[in-house]
Amino acid sequence: MPAVARARRACDPVPCGGMTSTHGRTTAPRLVFPPGFVWGVATAAHQIEGGNVNNDWWAWEHNPDSGTVASSGDACDSFHRWREDVDLVGELGLSAYRFSLEWSRIEPAEGEFSVAALEHYRRICAACRGRGVLPVVTFHHFTSPRWFAARGGWEAADAPDLFARFVTRAAAHLGDLIGWACTLNEPNVVAVMGYFQGQYPPGVKEDFARYAAVNENMVRAHTLAAEALRAGPGDYPVGLTLSMAEITADEGGESLRDAAEEMLENVFLRATTDDDFVGVQCYTRMHFGPEGVAPNDPEVPLTQMGDELWPQAVEHTVRRAASVSGRPVVVTENGIATDDDAERIAFLRDALESAHRCIDEGIDLRGYFVWSLLDNFEWHLGYGPKFGIVAVTPDTFERRPKPSAYWFGEVARSNAVVPASTAGPHGEQIAPE
Ligand code: BGC
Repeated sequence: MPAVARARRACDPVPCGGMTSTHGRTTAPRLVFPPGFVWGVATAAHQIEGGNVNNDWWAWEHNPDSGTVASSGDACDSFHRWREDVDLVGELGLSAYRFSLEWSRIEPAEGEFSVAALEHYRRICAACRGRGVLPVVTFHHFTSPRWFAARGGWEAADAPDLFARFVTRAAAHLGDLIGWACTLNEPNVVAVMGYFQGQYPPGVKEDFARYAAVNENMVRAHTLAAEALRAGPGDYPVGLTLSMAEITADEGGESLRDAAEEMLENVFLRATTDDDFVGVQCYTRMHFGPEGVAPNDPEVPLTQMGDELWPQAVEHTVRRAASVSGRPVVVTENGIATDDDAERIAFLRDALESAHRCIDEGIDLRGYFVWSLLDNFEWHLGYGPKFGIVAVTPDTFERRPKPSAYWFGEVARSNAVVPASTAGPHGEQIAPE
């Protein structure tokens, strides 16, 4: 039995569907999204595939000095179980699946491309298409091949060209099936975590010159990759995804806040002028004071990531992305790390209400993707934080959709969300009479 059917029974009697009036229930007021709005879920190769032994992250996880708490190991075994994942996305009623290509599988040695690996990703794209699900393909989601890291990683002068060569080769194989393309996932996080905070490979701490050089190279890598995608087969929207936060300034923190926005976000937003969309990935709010990053607001609860639980960050980041870039926007990631799935539903509902306010203001917001389909490998924090709308049993890899999966599927099918003020007690999309 498909996982969705199995667990749908398990979640009875919580109603999982329908906006029509039935048996003592009335249709609640709804916030309707524009026709064609894309509803998706996102994943990344290294976080779900397992066995990605040939990239810089695997090496980093196995470096005892890295501070990473676990090896990605088998992850969710999605390299073998990808069809179950695509089936789940389709069965839930979602319209898009965002996943990434693992560069180290496609180009295991410099200049040596694996047709078998490309065929693997082609099968995933085709399965999405067969399910009526838009394949949204990310070409780089944090991990790089070991050979690339060994020759200087994102600091090497020719790093953007090497990335563009990989993108050209992969797009030649997949282009006719791609739905949307994201060149780089959060280049700003690769730069800041890898070359300033030192928590991601290569673990460089507080080296501003190296950090700035990587930022510059990643902007160029995006530009070259986008050109390569536009020149290849297929005709699909191309964009960049950025990590964005609502950044507030406490008194005296205004100039540091502005400087942070400039270095972390604006340099990339300005590089999207020829793109079809900007992908906003937002999770929380940050504060800046006169000394730099200031503590969280003690009144606001925290997520498992230690971030402020702040779903309304969506509207601030979408507004900023739209106004700085002038491009259409897609929320390519948003979600919460929590063990409490009711809290997840409440978060997603509030985030969607927040997104809807942008649409009301006339911002061209085209889609919303939950991070993540599966509970997965959360980088240096291992398997602790739970972002998934689907749980994965360790060792058996059984996929178990949570109530939030059905809730989000219903939102997608109805293209509407019932505001918190009128939703049912279990997060239903139908309000009790
Ligand atoms: C990244 C994901 C990550 C998520 C939650 C995003 O920054 O793209 O890979 O798992 O945030 O931390």
